Amino acid sequence: MICETNEDHTKWMRRAIFLASLGKNTTSPNPKVGAVILDKNGKLISEGFHYKAGMPHAEAMAFSNLKKDAKGGSMYVNLEPCCHQGKTPPCVDKVISSGIKKVYISIKDPDKRVSGKGIKLLKEAGIQVHVGLCRKESFNLNKDFIYRNISKKAFGVLKWAMSIDGRIGLKNGKSKWITNEESRSLVHSFRAEFDAIIIGGNTLRQDNPLLTTRGKKKPEPLRVVFTKSLDLPSKCNLWDCSKGKTLVIYDSSTANEKFLTNIPQCVEVEKVSSDNPELISKILAKRGCNKVLWECGPRLATAAIRANCIQEIITFIAPKILGGENNMNPFGDFEFKEMNEIIELSDSQVSLIGNDICVKSALKN
Ligand SMILES: NC(=O)c1ccc[n+]([C@@H]2O[C@H](COP(=O)([O-])OP(=O)(O)OC[C@H]3O[C@@H](n4cnc5c(N)ncnc54)[C@H](OP(=O)(O)O)[C@@H]3O)[C@@H](O)[C@H]2O)c1
Repeated sequence: MICETNEDHTKWMRRAIFLASLGKNTTSPNPKVGAVILDKNGKLISEGFHYKAGMPHAEAMAFSNLKKDAKGGSMYVNLEPCCHQGKTPPCVDKVISSGIKKVYISIKDPDKRVSGKGIKLLKEAGIQVHVGLCRKESFNLNKDFIYRNISKKAFGVLKWAMSIDGRIGLKNGKSKWITNEESRSLVHSFRAEFDAIIIGGNTLRQDNPLLTTRGKKKPEPLRVVFTKSLDLPSKCNLWDCSKGKTLVIYDSSTANEKFLTNIPQCVEVEKVSSDNPELISKILAKRGCNKVLWECGPRLATAAIRANCIQEIITFIAPKILGGENNMNPFGDFEFKEMNEIIELSDSQVSLIGNDICVKSALKN
């Protein structure tokens, strides 16, 4: 007889979550999923994880890695197994035909094509299904995928770098460099977690950024410029498509389309009907971007927060003083009249990067 404790179940589910996290920068638009298979005696006989859309799902990979018969065994998986034919066959069928007796699922799949149907099919096949182990960890791992599925918008993270007196640049637009080299290099690695990086037209004109991971992610995240004027330079780093794909989104109600000739053919261009940042968030979600990084200046950042496009923020704070009333703030005026209107952040995590401080927080929206 096998003796199973709650700790055993948690241990195996945590293993599935760890395996899922190995697909951290590569699975979009799909979720991060890991699966563990135990034999009927509770011994680990296989595991797998989803690496990339179009490649086998975690459960399928675990079945193809099987060292022994799974009949009578159990499976731990951090997300409900799929029951629809996508780029790969439904995982539920594989679980049922394997003879597995128990399936531990951490959370339901928010994708409408699955959402409880996978669980139902497993139960109908006589499999014992348990849902809810390590729910919080699983939710955190896939919060971007879950957010996109529910809201139809990309999960947005806003990042900026500022001095200790809260300035992001001088009034003449100069801002290179506020933070130290270590922080800047960390930003390159950290961009690899994102499917797209967004700036406004003015940041493009002022900073001429590259917006790449410097080769840490292949392909590089999509580089997105949002512009109301389309008055973009004919030469800039973002037009070099050998470094990464670029998409220009412009507001057709205000843009001067004569500037389209400044943009090379390799750059994609899409028009929208207003300057509401929510439109970008929706376009990118539709393209399969789960998580996007807003690296814009104060005006677009303020508009993006107002439009509920930002779910988390990351601030790099350098021990430097820029001073000056007219030097740049991270945000424009939200026009709050009462303290109970101000934006509150939660779940802050603080780390030191050399002499810089990095604060990550969530927005309550
Ligand atoms: N320290 C940092 O972390 C950091 C980060 C980013 C930027 N910056 C600095 O910020 C400065 C640029 O600031 P910015 O506020 O002008 O930033 P931005 O990132 O260029 O955003 C503003 C631009 O976005 C476009 N846009 C589209 N929809 C908009 C909307 N609803 N509201 C506002 N803008 C919209 C417009 O482009 P068009 O003008 O093309 O129509 C507008 O000029 C630069 O000097 C840059 O160095 C600093």
